[in-house]
Amino acid sequence: MNHPHSAKPWSLLVVASATGLGLLSPLLASGQIVFPLPLHIAGHGITLVMMVDLIVRWRRSGSLHAYGVRWLCVDLLGALPLALLTGLPGLEVLRLAKLARVVQTMRELWSVYIDKWNTFRLLYSAILIGFVVHWLSCGWLALRAASPHLDNTGNTYLRALYWCVTTLTSVGYGDIIPRTDVETVYAIFVMAAGVGMFGYVVGNIAHIITNLHPSRVRYIETMEGLNAFMEYRGLPSQLQHRIRDYYAYRWEKRLGFDESTILNDLSVSLQSEVSLFLKKDVIEKVPFFKGATEELVREISLAMRPRVYMPGDPIFRAGEQGEEMYFIGRGEVNVLAKDGTTVQAVLRDGDFFGEGALVLGQPRSATVRAIGYCDLYALDKASFASIIQRHPGFAAHIEAMIKERFGSHR
Ligand code: CMP
Repeated sequence: MNHPHSAKPWSLLVVASATGLGLLSPLLASGQIVFPLPLHIAGHGITLVMMVDLIVRWRRSGSLHAYGVRWLCVDLLGALPLALLTGLPGLEVLRLAKLARVVQTMRELWSVYIDKWNTFRLLYSAILIGFVVHWLSCGWLALRAASPHLDNTGNTYLRALYWCVTTLTSVGYGDIIPRTDVETVYAIFVMAAGVGMFGYVVGNIAHIITNLHPSRVRYIETMEGLNAFMEYRGLPSQLQHRIRDYYAYRWEKRLGFDESTILNDLSVSLQSEVSLFLKKDVIEKVPFFKGATEELVREISLAMRPRVYMPGDPIFRAGEQGEEMYFIGRGEVNVLAKDGTTVQAVLRDGDFFGEGALVLGQPRSATVRAIGYCDLYALDKASFASIIQRHPGFAAHIEAMIKERFGSHR
């Protein structure tokens, strides 16, 4: 799949040309419209873009297999001026196959701008309806021209469009009516299509309205469940307040998505790349990592797990067994002596703590409490041990930090 951002202006030009083709080809196929000069020039310009697009794609893919037979047919049909080559205007409709490329590009853009999903859907539906109305009008135009009862006055296309819209919307003034059997069948078909289209529009609008803020809806659902649970289990109101606060914070920062869950869904190589990128900010803040080998940084970033703490939350208490050490991505923590009140140190972005218990194999020497909202990254005991073993530089740094911190305390 092409990356949506690669050759963006070119793919947008192809999309615009294919859209133009979607409008001009059926008109030409109807055999009733004599194109004025600007439309002639536009038509040739579109054919040129399609031909260049075919050549570029062919050269980029290098083989029929990589190109895909289906896509080759699509691009080939789009690039051939069939009416001009064969003298049969009707064949022009085959060029509409190129619209598959429009759908393809729309889907790619869709996946990139998923947050604009509703706007996209609305736009997509409007364009689709516009095309359908235009094609049906061209069909009527072609039929009408074959009919011996020509009642078209004024602009023929406009009259056909008028008939089509009045029929599709079931207004049907009856001033233009089918005269032959074929026209009658066609009119029945357009009326039935109108009903389908109405359903499509209503369904789409209803869907868009119910999905206006999907993440908000999810948040409300989660909070409802949470509130019901907390009430049912009779949690103290202070605790309830903190739990709500925690969810609100997580939602505000990450729309409630859990980094680890998203990472676990990715392939191993993507996991390593994405975690390196995500933890880049915290890694950049830790002075030691600036000079560390890429391998060490990669290994640590893969093992780090994000944790969010609320103001006043204890991260651990003095005397507990240590299972993790922590890096501060954002926020401040107090290191409190065993009495629980004396502040031994305040650590902030880029600092780490909790290494003592892991290295010395003793219980936590102090209580560490979040001052404000804190985004931390935890490194578990096993990963810590294996990293220390394989990276003597990191081990020496931790040792030095322990000497500095605990020199006189232990
Ligand atoms: P640990 O003993 O596992 O748990 C408490 C942590 O607080 C300890 O590891 C250190 O990371 C940190 N710590 C202890 N004393 C100090 C200090 N004086 N300055 C900064 N951090 C400290």
